[in-house]
Amino acid sequence: MERTLNDMLDLSTLLDLAVDLATRAGAMLMDGFEARHETVGTKTSSTDMVTDLDRASEELIVEGLIRMRPDDGILGEEGASREGSSGIRWVIDPLDGTTNYLYGLPAFAVSIAAELHGAAVVGVVADPSHDEVFTATSGGGARRNGVPIAVSGATELATALVATGFGYRREQRSRQAQVLTEVLPAVRDVRRFGAAAIDLCWVACGRLDAYYEVGIQHWDVAAGGLVATEAGAHVEGLREVSTGSDSARVIAATPGLADPLRQLLDAAPPPT
Ligand code: IPD
Ligand code: CA
Repeated sequence: MERTLNDMLDLSTLLDLAVDLATRAGAMLMDGFEARHETVGTKTSSTDMVTDLDRASEELIVEGLIRMRPDDGILGEEGASREGSSGIRWVIDPLDGTTNYLYGLPAFAVSIAAELHGAAVVGVVADPSHDEVFTATSGGGARRNGVPIAVSGATELATALVATGFGYRREQRSRQAQVLTEVLPAVRDVRRFGAAAIDLCWVACGRLDAYYEVGIQHWDVAAGGLVATEAGAHVEGLREVSTGSDSARVIAATPGLADPLRQLLDAAPPPT
């Protein structure tokens, strides 16, 4: 029988590399945490900030990838972009939760995914302020610090704890606020932690029952999306997000909550 590239790939080698780089980048972010206010600039809008540490973290990861995997492609939030020839592409968010980081809020992460022909096969999210590393390989389950994790058994929206996130553009936020007016009365409560990679991993380990966001970027969700999927979540919208669509919506929820949550989000009145 013909073996596919997926069969031949040693996912554990890719996983070990991603864990090593995410952990080292996370340690670097912790070292820079106190000096964070001195290094701020802005990107797409005045609310979209970037620090020298975002860039240094991406540099550390990219250098490590190029050294160990010179034939792979790379896409990073801070501009890393490299064509590869191996079929593997690394998708990096070197500091997810930049606003939290700048304000000294311990909810930020390093997110690294390895994709094979566009589908994530390895996902690593390091949350250095809580000493947690979430990992997943396709078909191999999801783990927190090496211990298998699974989604909660939630089935009722009315008692579900749901996280979301907001984009950086004004018009997008107005729409997100409008949708929220439908969601908030229908669920137990809503959380906005400010780091999508962490939201997805917290769905994966049952700290949250569901997460949704519109207008998120590929690097925010590539690794966490696989962690949530492998933990048993229903995850949708990743493919649309990877095309760069502004209106793509990611939902990650327990299997019992996915349909009712989607219906609730779809019921929000269209923008006027
Ligand atoms: C942001 C965070 C946030 C989400 C935004 C993202 P960044 O990423 O993940 O939770 O709501 O959509 O852009 O800018 O902190 O890397
Ligand atoms: Ca991000």
